Amino acid sequence: MNKPAVTVTNQDGSVINADSIRKLYGDFIAVAGITLRVEPGETYGLLGPNGAGKTTTMRMLAGLSPVDSGSITVSGIDVIKDNRAVREVMGVVTQHDGLDNGLTVFQNLFLFGFLAGQSRKDAKYRAHQVLEFFGLRERSKDNTYELSGGMKRRLAIARSMMSSPQVIVMDEPSTGLDPQSRNRVWEELAILKDAGVTVLLSTHYMEEATVLCDRLSIIDHGKILDEGSPEQMIERHAPREVAQMRVTPAALRKVREYLDTHSINFREVGALVSVTGVNGERPDLSGLEDVEGVCTSYRVGNLEDVFLAITGKELRD
Ligand SMILES: Nc1ncnc2c1ncn2[C@@H]1O[C@H](COP(=O)(O)OP(=O)(O)OP(=O)(O)O)[C@@H](O)[C@H]1O
Ligand SMILES: [Mg+2]
Repeated sequence: MNKPAVTVTNQDGSVINADSIRKLYGDFIAVAGITLRVEPGETYGLLGPNGAGKTTTMRMLAGLSPVDSGSITVSGIDVIKDNRAVREVMGVVTQHDGLDNGLTVFQNLFLFGFLAGQSRKDAKYRAHQVLEFFGLRERSKDNTYELSGGMKRRLAIARSMMSSPQVIVMDEPSTGLDPQSRNRVWEELAILKDAGVTVLLSTHYMEEATVLCDRLSIIDHGKILDEGSPEQMIERHAPREVAQMRVTPAALRKVREYLDTHSINFREVGALVSVTGVNGERPDLSGLEDVEGVCTSYRVGNLEDVFLAITGKELRD
């Protein structure tokens, strides 16, 4: 597939530069002054719980929703002044696919290109290229409503590539997909990255953020709470080690009592009790070694712990 033209950057060398953007719905502040820069070829993630303001932020960056204040430049284009021009350089994959279910796979691609200003001939040519690239050739004549969720997502990503964008904004590209389809989406994103495309994505999946993102920010209540590479964020906020105990219902009371009386921090998620020690070091659980129904293993800190430490919420809600 054609590589995108050399990425045009902003004056400061970034591809996306948002400064103090805000969005209000009536009195409610959905985005409360977000500032971020995405560098050429970078994959940048927005991690946040439901309602954090991810979609609102991305829609403003893509020129799909007006800002109340602040400034946005994408590839040298002032998005606030010229929200049409930004669509020529930016691909968008929205949270809900927005595919036309009444059309075939090919028609969805073709029409998108055509409506974006490509000639019939160019749109047709590009649609065939994109079908090939995303392994959708065999499905090209199928009705879109017949596709599985994973295939629809693939088509939505494929469609965002119709204009050979230098930068793509993807709102939860793999939400609702089974692990296999999710892996496939990750492979596609890795290919885009190799081709030099700059990607801004939002996600609820820690693994997705860890695998794909060069940098990410954690947002809640319309604000960035911290930003960095996954490794930096883990270093800053996660414990070095977390003990995970699988506890049978019969043993649970004993385990809780032990942890409470020893003032050890813990949280329960399903059948797992996660325990962190003082200063993030390995906790001392020797007193539970002989308790029947407790199986303890240790893992290193991860983005899920970062998220919990920063927002006080579980990543999966
Ligand atoms: N059109 C609207 N009118 C009023 N409030 C809105 C509108 N769109 C979003 N909101 C509110 O703004 C806040 C941020 O919403 P947004 O969709 O950006 O969150 P999100 O981080 O994308 O969440 P999710 O993970 O659930 O997709 C939410 O409280 C939401 O209810
Ligand atoms: Mg959203």
